[in-house]
Amino acid sequence: MPLVPMRVLLDHAAENGYGIAGLNVNNMEQIQAIMMAATETDSPVIVQASRGARKYSNDAYLRHLMLAAVELNPSLPICMHQDHGNSAETCFSAIAQGFTSVMMDGSLSEDGKVPSTYDYNAQVTRKVVEQAHAVGVSVEGEVGALGGIEDGHGAGLSQAEAMEHLTDPDQAEQFVADTGVDALAVAIGTSHGAYKFSRKPTGDVLKMDLIEEIHRRLPNTHLVMHGSSSVPQELQDIINAFGGAIKQTYGVPVEEIQRGIKNGVRKVNVDTDSRLAITGAIRKVFAESPGKFDPRDYLKPAREAMAEVCKARMIAFGQAGNAGKIKPLTCKKMVDFYKK
Ligand code: G3H
Ligand code: 13P
Ligand code: ZN
Repeated sequence: MPLVPMRVLLDHAAENGYGIAGLNVNNMEQIQAIMMAATETDSPVIVQASRGARKYSNDAYLRHLMLAAVELNPSLPICMHQDHGNSAETCFSAIAQGFTSVMMDGSLSEDGKVPSTYDYNAQVTRKVVEQAHAVGVSVEGEVGALGGIEDGHGAGLSQAEAMEHLTDPDQAEQFVADTGVDALAVAIGTSHGAYKFSRKPTGDVLKMDLIEEIHRRLPNTHLVMHGSSSVPQELQDIINAFGGAIKQTYGVPVEEIQRGIKNGVRKVNVDTDSRLAITGAIRKVFAESPGKFDPRDYLKPAREAMAEVCKARMIAFGQAGNAGKIKPLTCKKMVDFYKK
C-alpha cells in the first residue's frame, strides 16, 4: 500500500469514533518502533517529521526509511506528515519529498517563534491548502499558540502565557471557512516538551471544555491535540534512577485525551513520551553495563521501549484494530475528492 494522505485516516477515525497518534521521528529506530507497535495492534499510522527532524536525518534518508516501512508493512495505511511547517516553502518541499500530509503552522510567524496575526495565518494556510489539495496532499492548520519550545519550533510561552493564546472558537470557525484545512490544531493549555504542568492538570489549565465548544461549532472538522505526551511517572523514574535529572512534571493524562477523542479530536501528537522511553532505556544499559559499546546493545532496548509507549497509545486512542478496515486512497485519487 503506498503512503496515504492523512485525510483518509482521519475520516475513518471520525466515522468510527477513535483518534490516531501523530508520532514524531528522527531516525530509523523510531520509525521501526512505530511500525512494530502498529503491526502488533493493526493500527493506521501517522509518522511525522518536524523541520528539525528533516534537517537532522536528511530528507533522502527519511523518504527511503518511510518507503521501507511501506514495503515491509503492505497491509498498514501509513501517512507521512510534516509537523509544524513554518512556511509555505517548507510545506512545498515536504510535498516534493513525498510527504502525504503537511502542517502549515501559521499561528507563529515564519521564524517559528513569534505569534503571528490571524490574517497572515489564514492567507499562508490557504495558499498551502490550494497547492497541496491540487496534488491530493492533506493539510493541518493551527489557530492559537502552544506553550513550550522544542529544538526549533515554538513561541517559548510559559504555561501562564500560553493561556493567553488559547484558541478562540469564533476564530477557529472563521479559519476553517477561510482556509479549507483538513484538520485543525487547537491550543487548549498544553505545551511541547516534558514540562507541561506542575501538578496533575485540572480544567483550569487543561481546557478540555474548549475542545468541546470548538467541536460543537465545527462538528465536521478533525481536531488535533499537540503537546499531548502524558509524561508517565514511570518513564521519569527510570531516567532518574539511572543518572538522569528530570524535574518532577506532569503531562496530559490519557483519560483527558480520550475525552477529547469523544469530542472531535482525531490526531494526538506525541513525541516527548517516545524521547523519554528511549532515553530511559539507554541510560539503563549504560548504567548497568558500562562495558558495553555496541550501539545495538542500547538501541535495541531503546526501540523496544518506544514501541511499548506507541502500542499503549494506539490502544488507548482506539486506532488499534482499524488498519485493515481502511480503504486506502492514494494522493492521486484524493485529487478528485478535493475537486468536489
Ligand atoms: O513540535 C514539536 C515536536 O516535538 C518536534 O520537536 O522540533 O525538536 O523536532 P523538534
Ligand atoms: P509532546 O512534546 O507533548 O510530545 O508534543 C509533540 C507535538 O505536539 C509534536 O507536534
Ligand atoms: Zn506540536
